[in-house]
Amino acid sequence: MRRIAVCPGSFDPVTLGHLDIITRASTLFDKVIVLISTNAAKNQASFSTTERMMMIAAATAHLDNVVIDILDGLLVDYVRRVQAVAIVKGLRAVSDFEYEFQMALTNKVLYAGAETVFLTTSQENMYLSSSVVKQIAYFGGDISPFVPACIQESIQKRLSKQGEGNS
Ligand code: PNS
Repeated sequence: MRRIAVCPGSFDPVTLGHLDIITRASTLFDKVIVLISTNAAKNQASFSTTERMMMIAAATAHLDNVVIDILDGLLVDYVRRVQAVAIVKGLRAVSDFEYEFQMALTNKVLYAGAETVFLTTSQENMYLSSSVVKQIAYFGGDISPFVPACIQESIQKRLSKQGEGNS
């Protein structure tokens, strides 16, 4: 039996922290589906789902057992449909815990057929988030320590304040 894991997130945009979790999950499971999802609690995304998908595709091109999909609906419905055995999430500093714990328990009530598996973030990504990357890019700062090199330029161009008003 092939063991499938789903790795859901907003990925707006994908960071080295996400890539680290996806890479480690790809060594633990036969197939990993990176699932671009909408977080209803967050504001409008900066990148469209297609843009996010293309960025993740570029960043994970070297990982043979990783595919990308877009979620339209409840995570657990998708997990059940593809018969995934796990939902993989990265866990950063303490601040993530309560929210992630709530989601894991809720998802378990909605669908008991998959486990939420938390991978602790690597130390260097402890405080990294997509929002921090967006803020740095907006003010023209160097985002190279935080995002995969192959998508750095497109993120920078798209979010830079200097680019405002340009077509
Ligand atoms: O990267 P994020 O924003 O922390 O990811 C949160 C996400 C998208 C995984 C979560 O909001 C989610 O699972 N959304 C899909 C809708 C859903 O199933 N909601 C119920 C979760 S308890």
